[in-house]
Amino acid sequence: MKRDDLTGFELSGNKVRKLEFHFAAAVAAGADTVITCGALQSNHSRATAFAAARLGLRSILLLRAADGGDPPLAGNYLLHHLGGAEIRLMTPMQWPARDALMEEVAEEQSGRGHKCWVIPEGASDALGMWGFVVAMQELADQIASIPGKPPLIWHAASSGGTTAGIGWGVERLGLATPVVACSIGDGSAEIARKVESIWEEAAASMNTRVPVAQIDYVERHIGGGYGVISEQELVVQAEASALTGVIFDPTYTGKAIAGLRSDIDSGRYDGAQNVIFWHTGGGFAALSYDFTGIVAAADRVVDND
Ligand SMILES: Cc1ncc(COP(=O)(O)O)c(C=O)c1O
Repeated sequence: MKRDDLTGFELSGNKVRKLEFHFAAAVAAGADTVITCGALQSNHSRATAFAAARLGLRSILLLRAADGGDPPLAGNYLLHHLGGAEIRLMTPMQWPARDALMEEVAEEQSGRGHKCWVIPEGASDALGMWGFVVAMQELADQIASIPGKPPLIWHAASSGGTTAGIGWGVERLGLATPVVACSIGDGSAEIARKVESIWEEAAASMNTRVPVAQIDYVERHIGGGYGVISEQELVVQAEASALTGVIFDPTYTGKAIAGLRSDIDSGRYDGAQNVIFWHTGGGFAALSYDFTGIVAAADRVVDND
């Protein structure tokens, strides 16, 4: 398991790798305010709020909430507040216009004398992608001595920056390791479109060609969609925690580990290929889910008598 849940505490997860590049650029540009967007329980928004706090910058988060009412202060949504972010809730109807809405907020803020840096959803663009190109180099050094077939890399995919960086890194390093992008919400075609567009933007800015790295986009584990988790998936996730001592979050890593487990059970990876599960973080979001009736599963897999 590649433990990106341990990239920090407040700043834990894959987002930090991408934000490192965005915050360096924001500081270099003299920004005093960062603006980004995400779901109500967004790990990316939480990491953005805390990175900004550490650097003495202001943060404004546009968060997608169900229509009406105040969302419960739990998980990342609580941490968004504790990190000192200004929060503006968006409706699901407004979400498709998120980029334009962030630009509007930037204009409004610059009218008040602030200099803003806008970070796209998940910091998944040609700049943020570099966090994962560098991460892939790190992983390549760590796995160089694993004998047998090159290990397969399995990770949860959503806004595409993680996949784009891993794919770019694999190609740049000339590795033969297969990459599986396990969709947790959007279908494979949509994730592939996002990855291609990040690659195109990066290739154009560097005057180089788009990678030909083959990513295996997997959508068979999406189930009910983003953030909708079956009881069976929650049970697998609780078992995985009990067996490894590692926390998984239902939306991303939990869904992805349940998907990997089901693919292994169905014989898809027979042939004893090593699999690296890239743990992309998300521990705080796990605390906003209702595990009532599920945790007993954890007791069943370890012998607590
Ligand atoms: C814990 C976790 N894992 C995986 C992902 C997916 O990464 P990406 O958005 O780069 O595809 C996210 C993104 O929100 C995440 O928070």
